[in-house]
Amino acid sequence: MQQILSQAEWYERAKSVLPGGGFGNFDPTMFIREGHGSRVWDEDGTEYVDLLIGSGPMLLGHGHPEVLEAVAEQLPRGMTFFANNALGVELAEEICRAVPCADQIRYVSSGGEADMYAIRAARAFTGRDKIVKFEGGYHGMSAEAQMSLAPSRMVNFPQAVPDSAGIPEGVRAEMLIAPFNDPDYIRSLLAEHGDQTAAIIVEPLQRIIPPAPGFLQLLRDEADKYGIVLIFDEVVTGFRFAYGGAQELYGVTPDIATLGKIIGGGFPLAAIAGRADIMAHFDKAAVGADKWLMQLGTLSGNPVAAIAGLKTMEVLRRDGNYDTLRAYGQRLMDLASAALNKHDIAHQIVGDRTLFEIVFTDNQPQNYRDVFSSDMAKGAAFNKVLMQNGLFKSPGKTYPCLALTEDDFALAEAAYAKAAAAIA
Ligand SMILES: Cc1ncc(COP(=O)(O)O)c(C=O)c1O
Repeated sequence: MQQILSQAEWYERAKSVLPGGGFGNFDPTMFIREGHGSRVWDEDGTEYVDLLIGSGPMLLGHGHPEVLEAVAEQLPRGMTFFANNALGVELAEEICRAVPCADQIRYVSSGGEADMYAIRAARAFTGRDKIVKFEGGYHGMSAEAQMSLAPSRMVNFPQAVPDSAGIPEGVRAEMLIAPFNDPDYIRSLLAEHGDQTAAIIVEPLQRIIPPAPGFLQLLRDEADKYGIVLIFDEVVTGFRFAYGGAQELYGVTPDIATLGKIIGGGFPLAAIAGRADIMAHFDKAAVGADKWLMQLGTLSGNPVAAIAGLKTMEVLRRDGNYDTLRAYGQRLMDLASAALNKHDIAHQIVGDRTLFEIVFTDNQPQNYRDVFSSDMAKGAAFNKVLMQNGLFKSPGKTYPCLALTEDDFALAEAAYAKAAAAIA
């Protein structure tokens, strides 16, 4: 049985067994005890409206009854087998039905792994090494993904800045870093390096920054021109922006998409989804030993995760759910804006109604540097007051979910009012 301790006591214990006292994800002094619907409770018993939703997966809210029932049915039948299982095939079929670029998928356990293998598959397919990545783009924790993810030192493009120690210099040399939403830069970069480039990897909406009109299509066209694999990182946007993800919403189909979060229904499951001729590189019999990409993982296609994902997706497919999610996001955006406008505080609501953040700046940010040069101290102060007033969220994102209630919107309105007054 878990002892009842305060958060401060848990943090003391955590510090001796976890570096920095935490999992590396979130403020390590906070310990969430449980979540139900749109709410979570910390170990001190404080209740919050959850606008973090596990950093994205819990789009239906915590403990959705149908997902719980499906998982409970599977648990006594077995939790993991390593071998193929039927639920994993059904989930793959549903992903291939939903996601335009997906002829086939390969399972992994986390979004970052999916990105790592997507990059490797692009290299195997093209026989080239260089990767174009956008400054500020988040693609997990692989060596390539750690290049210019959140640099505090701005260098000239296309130079990469590693955000992590322990990465060999050789990785940096293969990365070409570009500013998001700059078509001219991409054209000139690829005119020089296009024939050595294996992949362009991009979050179709980078963190919170929407693509400028035509930017994703430009990436599609340039990738086609040079025979480059276009990878959309849809770990966040998949099954959130639309049932078919950002590629459905924006009408641009990549060659590969990476998926995670929602497709595992709150359990560790992610996937690389792509064109059959690229996915063939996961099949030794199809491409031969030299072009084969070895990939396996203990929990790949885990049946508990698969049934949670299948049930989550079944609920999402029901009429009106995406309209509801967008309406909820819009309400939160409107409440935040109204509170800030009351005090004439310059701000931008940046993102999509299904995922956004408030940025304290005069103009809509187009890239990482625009966000970096916003008033981040004001953002941090605003967030702190939101947390103190019952909104549980990350410092950089607001995630609405389908379980939000009228009480939650009332609480959010009051919290936004207090936070705006505090920074006025
Ligand atoms: C766009 C994007 N890609 C990849 C990842 C990595 O996913 P995971 O944390 O499951 O490894 C994340 C995580 O938040 C993400 O936001």
